[in-house]
Amino acid sequence: MAIERTFSMIKPDATKRNLTGAITKVFEDNGLRVVASKRVWMSKREAEGFYAVHKERPFFGELVEGMTSGPTVVQVLEGENAILKNREIMGATNPEQAAEGTIRKTFALSIGENSVHGSDAPETAAQEIKYWFSDTEIVG
Ligand code: CMP
Repeated sequence: MAIERTFSMIKPDATKRNLTGAITKVFEDNGLRVVASKRVWMSKREAEGFYAVHKERPFFGELVEGMTSGPTVVQVLEGENAILKNREIMGATNPEQAAEGTIRKTFALSIGENSVHGSDAPETAAQEIKYWFSDTEIVG
């Protein structure tokens, strides 16, 4: 199996409830290693740029508003099959559909306040990591 890196965010709904450590522990307990991490309060421009793929969606305004409402912890996670593994650990986007034991089932409040984001494919992982981190900030 391949060692991969994926991009992860602990979203404002979670940081506001002081869940940064609890969520990071789930990653670590499942074999993912935090190789970069920083806490940011993203600007409207940063949120719109990061989620540009969703800009035509009806929920885009709500998404940008939520992501700029408080601090976000942006992280790079490393491990075997990290991209798929992280998606399994997070659970479905809508917490009502997320499996028991997943981060979203345990912590998320709604589809808009779903506590975490994770890259969905190798190409997006590379793009999303680059959006927030320089190479020297990632220490594996
Ligand atoms: P995320 O994995 O960060 O990718 C895009 C986000 O848009 C998603 O998680 C949700 O938080 C949000 N989202 C997706 N669908 C909806 C929706 N129908 N209403 C509000 N927010 C949504």
